[in-house]
Amino acid sequence: MPRLALSAVPPERAEADLLVLPVAAGDAGPVAPPPTLAVLERLGTDLAALAAGHGRLSGALDDAVLLPSYGAVAAPAVLLVGVGPDAGRSTETLRRAAAVAVAGAGRATSLATALHQAGAEDGGRGRAAALAAVAEGTALAAYRFQRHRSRPEPELAAATLLVDGRRWLAAAEPALRRAEIAARATNLVRDLVNEPAGQLTPATLAAEAVRLARRAGLRHRVLQVPSLRRGRFGAVLAVGGASAVAPRVVELRYRPASPAGHVALVGKGVTFDSGGLDLKRGDGMVGMKDDMAGAATVLGTMTALAELDVRVAVTGVLPLVENMPGGSAMRAGDVVRARNGVAIEVTNTDAEGRLILADGLALAAEARPDAILDLATLTGSAVVGLGPGCTAVLGNHPPLTSRLLVAAAGAGEAAYELPLIEDYRRFLDSEVADLVNSTDQPGDAIQAALFLREFVAGVPWVHLDIAGPASAKQARYYQPKGASGCMVRTLLAFLEGYG
Ligand code: BES
Ligand code: MN
Ligand code: ZN
Repeated sequence: MPRLALSAVPPERAEADLLVLPVAAGDAGPVAPPPTLAVLERLGTDLAALAAGHGRLSGALDDAVLLPSYGAVAAPAVLLVGVGPDAGRSTETLRRAAAVAVAGAGRATSLATALHQAGAEDGGRGRAAALAAVAEGTALAAYRFQRHRSRPEPELAAATLLVDGRRWLAAAEPALRRAEIAARATNLVRDLVNEPAGQLTPATLAAEAVRLARRAGLRHRVLQVPSLRRGRFGAVLAVGGASAVAPRVVELRYRPASPAGHVALVGKGVTFDSGGLDLKRGDGMVGMKDDMAGAATVLGTMTALAELDVRVAVTGVLPLVENMPGGSAMRAGDVVRARNGVAIEVTNTDAEGRLILADGLALAAEARPDAILDLATLTGSAVVGLGPGCTAVLGNHPPLTSRLLVAAAGAGEAAYELPLIEDYRRFLDSEVADLVNSTDQPGDAIQAALFLREFVAGVPWVHLDIAGPASAKQARYYQPKGASGCMVRTLLAFLEGYG
C-alpha cells in the first residue's frame, strides 16, 4: 500500500512523479478550484483550451487528461481529473475520482493529489471527510495482488495529499490516519481472500490470525480438534471431516477500558468449498478459495480496532474448515448436532456455510453480547437476487439492521435488506432432526438466514451475505479484479459509532 502523507506546499512545488488536480463539471464547461487554475496558468493553458482540445475535458467523473509540465511545476506531469458537478458530489465521488487518478498514473510510483480540495457535499465533517475519501480511494485503488508473480509490476509507493495552507494540517492528520487504517485493513482482507486455498488452509489461516492478533494486541484462542470435540462443535467437525487439514475455531477478543457495549462478529471461514460429496461442477468451484471472505473480514476489521480507539468490546469467532469429499466426509442424510444442541439433518453437503456458522453463532451467543453480526459468502441465491456487487442484509432486530445499513451507505458500500419471511421457516423442518440445512424451495438466501437465526439465542443479530461482492470479476474504480475486502469499512464505521 502506498505511504500516505500530508503536505502544505502549493501544488506547483509538490515533488512527485505526478501532480493530480481536480476539475469540476460546470453548466457551461469545466470549472476548477484556484490551485488547479494557478497550475494551468504556469503550464500556459486554460480550461477553455482543454475543453476544446483533443481530450475534450468536461470535468465529469471518469475524465482524465495528462499534461507534461516541461519544468513549469516541480512534478514532471500533471493529471487533471474530473470530479463532476459541485451539486451532489459525495465522498464516494471523490473515492472514485481518486481511483481514476491512480489508473491514469500509469507507471508513476509517487503522486501528489489535491482532488479533495474540490470538496464534497456529504460527510458532515467537510474538508476532513473529503480528504479521507481521496486517501481511501487512492490506497484502495493502488492495491495489487502480486505475491505469486515472478515479475511483479511497479506499484504506487507514495501519495501526498496537498492541503491548502499549514493551518489545515492539524485537522487533516486524524482523518488521513483513519483512512489509512481502514484501507490497510481492507487490503489485508484482499490479500487473505486472494491467497490460493493450497496455501491458505484452516491451519495457515489460524496461524495468520494469531500472528495478526498478537500484532494488534488482541486476545486470542485457537480451538483444535480435541477442544472442538469437547466443546461439541459437531457441525464444524462434520464439514471439516474429509479435509487433509483439520478444522479450527479461532476466537479473538478486543477489550478496551470501560467498554460502551459488546459486539460479536462471526465470519464464515471455508478455505475451499468443493461442495463435499455434493460436489460442485468445475465452473462452480472456480473462485471457491474466496469462501473464507467472511472470516477474513472479521479478522481484518479486528486488527484495526485498537488503532481506531473503538470504544466497544468486540469478540470475533472464526470457524475455519475446508469442505472436501472423501471417505470421512459427511453424507446426505447425516445428522449433526451443533454446539447449542440443535440437531441438523444434512440434506446437502454444499450448504456447509450455515453449518459451521451454526456452531460459531452459538458460541458467540453464549457471552450474551449486545449484538451479533455475521459475514458469509453464504448463498448463490443472494447473488441471483441482488447481483454481483451488493451485500444482502437480514436480521432479527430492525434498529440494528438500520444502523448497519447507514454505516454501509456512508462507506460507499452497496448493501440492501432482504426480508426474513417468517412463513418460510416451515421449509426448514426436518422429519428426522430439528432442522434441514437445505431445501428444494427458491429463496435460499432467506432460508439460510432463517436457519442461522436458530443459533443466536434471541440476541439482536444481523447477517451479511457477501457471496456476490466478496470478489469482483471486473475491476471498477477502487475495486480491483479479485477480492474486494467489502464490508471492512462498513464494520469499522458501525463499531466506531456504537454505544
Ligand atoms: N459458498 C457457496 C455460496 C456461493 C455461491 C458463494 C456462489 C459465492 C458464489 C455456498 O457454500 C454454497 O455452495 N451454497 C449453495 C447452497 C445450496 C446447496 C443450498 C448454493 O448457493 O448453491
Ligand atoms: Mn457450499
Ligand atoms: Zn460455501
